Amino acid sequence: MKGTVLYDVKDNVAVLTVDNPPVNPLSDGVRTGLYECVTKAEEDDSIKGIVVTGNGRAFIAGADISEFGGNVEGISLNEVFNKLEHCSKPVVAAINGIALGGGLETALCCNYRIAANTAFVGLPEVNLGLLPGGGGTQRLPRLAGPSEALKMMLTGGHIPAKKALDMGIVDSISENVVEDSIKFAIEKAESSEQHPKVRDLNEKMIEARGNDKILLEAQAMAAKGRKGQFAPGQIIKCVEAAINLDDFDDGLKKEGELFLECLLHPQREAMIHIFFGERAASKISDVPKDTPVKEIKKAGIIGSGTMGGGIAMCFANAGIPVHIIDQDEENLKRGVSVIEKNYDFMVGKGRLTSEQKDAVFGLVTSSLEYEDISDCDIVIEAVYENLELKHEIFKTLDSVVKPEAILASNTSGLDIDSIASVTKRPELVVGTHFFSPANIMRLLEVVRGEVTSDETLATVMAVGKKLKKAAVVSLNAPGFIGNRMLFGYTAQANMLLLEGALPHQIDQALESFGLNMGPFRMMDLVGLDLGWRARKLSGKESPLHAKIGDELCEQNRYGQKNGAGYYNYTEGSRAPNAAPENEELYERISQENGFTRREISDEEIVDRCILALINEGANILSEGVAQRAVDIDVVYINGYGFPIWRGGPMHHANAMGLDVVVEKLNKYEELTGNDVYKPSELLVSLAENNLKMGDAPAKEDRKEKLGFEMSSVANNF
Ligand SMILES: NC(=O)c1ccc[n+]([C@@H]2O[C@H](COP(=O)([O-])OP(=O)(O)OC[C@H]3O[C@@H](n4cnc5c(N)ncnc54)[C@H](O)[C@@H]3O)[C@@H](O)[C@H]2O)c1
Repeated sequence: MKGTVLYDVKDNVAVLTVDNPPVNPLSDGVRTGLYECVTKAEEDDSIKGIVVTGNGRAFIAGADISEFGGNVEGISLNEVFNKLEHCSKPVVAAINGIALGGGLETALCCNYRIAANTAFVGLPEVNLGLLPGGGGTQRLPRLAGPSEALKMMLTGGHIPAKKALDMGIVDSISENVVEDSIKFAIEKAESSEQHPKVRDLNEKMIEARGNDKILLEAQAMAAKGRKGQFAPGQIIKCVEAAINLDDFDDGLKKEGELFLECLLHPQREAMIHIFFGERAASKISDVPKDTPVKEIKKAGIIGSGTMGGGIAMCFANAGIPVHIIDQDEENLKRGVSVIEKNYDFMVGKGRLTSEQKDAVFGLVTSSLEYEDISDCDIVIEAVYENLELKHEIFKTLDSVVKPEAILASNTSGLDIDSIASVTKRPELVVGTHFFSPANIMRLLEVVRGEVTSDETLATVMAVGKKLKKAAVVSLNAPGFIGNRMLFGYTAQANMLLLEGALPHQIDQALESFGLNMGPFRMMDLVGLDLGWRARKLSGKESPLHAKIGDELCEQNRYGQKNGAGYYNYTEGSRAPNAAPENEELYERISQENGFTRREISDEEIVDRCILALINEGANILSEGVAQRAVDIDVVYINGYGFPIWRGGPMHHANAMGLDVVVEKLNKYEELTGNDVYKPSELLVSLAENNLKMGDAPAKEDRKEKLGFEMSSVANNF
């Protein structure tokens, strides 16, 4: 059995300490331990009360996710909760650290809750496609009120102790939580008052009856923040039951039924796949676990533009001092003022206090002098995307920055080996591809050069974790992982436009599938002129799929930046409006290129765009550019707006069935004659052997040089 519960007696109070390092999940040993220890304390007449706490820094971080999907052994969580709630002696939860999911639900079954000032509570089950199934949906609304409880359960956010006190979730906060809880338990045992049970607190439920606004607001919140997800609707139904059912146990029963539906829903599997996937992605298969990691005490950033500013914020937010260098005073001033504005915005929204802003913004310094970054442990370059310029900067960095420091480039697609080659420390050079806005987007592609050392990689992965990024390793190959996949996908969206579909139809079909933003809205946002200018510079004829975009640019339609692209935009708004004036152009270009425009179904649109992603993902995997299938899913969900509840393109392929994927690819290859649909050999062999994407064999030599032709990929954005 995993985990245990330690039993101590202090001043006639039984102190039950959950011991299941590092974060004390409710594994079978913990459940059994809690049940047996409460029984023991109840049976011992010398014991006056019980305190439940956690060993180390966590109270109880939640259920043991590794038990999901398997047979749960031993005593169930509900038996433990029942035991705690109906204990004849007062039970105090001494919440010493994080109390999440089943952890907070444990505390809600105690009579009293005292939290350490540093503790956090939350019910994050929604992030795994689940609902709090241990009574959380029934008990939390009774303490915090249904509106606040719904907000907490639908966002899955962590609530700091002070706020939990204001919300009524905990009774008090303390600096010595276990000692104070023991004293409190004695006090309560000696008083004649009844020990309250959360299940009996019906006031807020009765007050909410008939108030439709509460549930309607929650539905609107779920539709906005958790589009397409199944669990949020279930959570709302649970709270509706808590409000309307007279008997608490009927509410619990309803919660149980709705929980089971979540558990059996494919979204739950997809979301747990990503939860574990993000942890797996942070490990590099051929870098030993005990590889030393450099300490990063100060970071330097070159370039204070869109990316440099965002990356600097990531370091400051993580408490790491960061110094920014730019080439000219004006750009530097503007860049730093954008950072300050971002922090001011957070203060305005109540996400930071002004003291916190001063502290975090105080970590950001700037100048025009490279000497000021000589003592940095890592420097990230984020200047214009130009190889010669990057060569020049890396030569300077190599001569100025201390020799053991890591030098990283935020390039979207230039050759890291070429950049490393101008330095005397190529083993310390690596790509750190952040996504825009860097302070918000979670994805970090770590680009491994041919000679990047294990220590450099391990350090950058650790930095990624510190910056709260989902870090994924990519080999140094054109487009890395994400942009290479995006290329085939947008190219197919453009082909569908050429063949007869319209931008809004294509966008709507893919947004209904679950993508955050359809491809044409995205291309308008990025700017159609970037690819157009690059293609013009190359002097080559544009590929078929780029013909319409190029023609739009010739007509001065660059996208959102000048109010017209595939869509029209009114000033100050990002909302796309149909642009019927483009339709003549679409028809002409289709005709000039030999296409007879036809009706295209939404199904074909989704199939063709998503299959392009899947097939390229399989190629990336078989080349070893990505280490494992789930890394590709993590990239696509965190960087490209793929719906988390579909588990990423590779997981989605598994869900479709790889035999179906191959069959459809063959069909579309025949229909379009396009190589994008030529089924990847890996896919075919996995399908033939009835395997899944995750069963793809590991690529032996991941350091193999892949040949870096700065070909089509970058030129198409
Ligand atoms: N913008 C994006 O969405 C995005 C996303 C991922 C990666 N990238 C990559 O990040 C890098 C930066 O992109 P960006 O969008 O932030 O560019 P940007 O144009 O917003 O900013 C570039 C900054 O670099 C400064 N700079 C130029 N030459 C310099 C020099 N010699 N020394 C010091 N500073 C110098 C400029 O003054 C400017 O402030 C590029 O390589 C780009 O491909 C961009």
